[in-house]
Amino acid sequence: MTSVVRLSAPAKINLGLEVLGRRPDGFHALATVYQEIALADELEFRPDADLRLEAEGDPTPPGEENLVVRAARALAAAAGIAPRATIRLTKRIPSRAGLGGGSSDAATTLLGLDRLWGTAVGAARLREIAARLGSDVPFFLTGGTAFGHRRGECVHRLPPVPELGLVLIAPYAGLSTPEVFRAGAFALTPPRNCNIMRRFAHYQRTGDGLSELVHNDLQVPAERLLPEIQDWRYRLQGLGATCAALSGSGSAVFGLFPAVEIATRAAGSLRGQARVFATAVVRRDPGAAAARD
Ligand code: C5P
Repeated sequence: MTSVVRLSAPAKINLGLEVLGRRPDGFHALATVYQEIALADELEFRPDADLRLEAEGDPTPPGEENLVVRAARALAAAAGIAPRATIRLTKRIPSRAGLGGGSSDAATTLLGLDRLWGTAVGAARLREIAARLGSDVPFFLTGGTAFGHRRGECVHRLPPVPELGLVLIAPYAGLSTPEVFRAGAFALTPPRNCNIMRRFAHYQRTGDGLSELVHNDLQVPAERLLPEIQDWRYRLQGLGATCAALSGSGSAVFGLFPAVEIATRAAGSLRGQARVFATAVVRRDPGAAAARD
């Protein structure tokens, strides 16, 4: 048996996010382009007699509420074994920010424990378990750039976007995902058509139209709940961002810059007023092995 497995759990932004309608089960039909970024939590998995989670860094939900613990139990149940491991989580991704930190930790736990325990349940089963843990957990099994639809759990890999300067701002106040969806008061109608893939294809083909792709239908309700989000967007644009938008259900805002140096300078001038990260998109070949390494 492997003695220790160490993996990074990356954050994501949503380059674009369309809410296509509200579903009878309380979820919303989405179309989104997920983008893995370099900001990441770290996870370490070791064999033990019981299941234990040791967390350091930013606070995370305790015990059985934590998605890492839920992921470990779900994988063990699927493999028909007892969940025996110590999991060490170093938290760097701000929570309640729309960056998928908890979901990424859960997906990375599935990948890490699959390796540690040698469960070999297979990629399809891992995707099923991931989708039950949360709508954006399956994306983190593969990362890179991907189209997400239905609740966000159906994921198709896309070719990488060009290297871009990326600044991320996480306000000290977070937002609750269900509250942001509720504040959007989306109608219970059959899903409308999505535009996001047409915009993505146009951007990939021509290098134009990034500002049309970068649009988030949750931005209006999120800004109603937390008006400072709008100020951050304007400030990023004032510092040279080609476009700036909310990530997921917020409260984090990202700005995309034409060059890494402009992004680094912009991040430097914003530090101290929120959690500010000068980071980068992670580019992965969609034809490479299915799981993140
Ligand atoms: O799937 P997940 O557990 O991450 O979703 C958290 C909450 O966000 C859901 O309970 C729901 O209120 C909202 N949500 C939604 N539509 C989605 C994804 C999430 O309404 N597609």
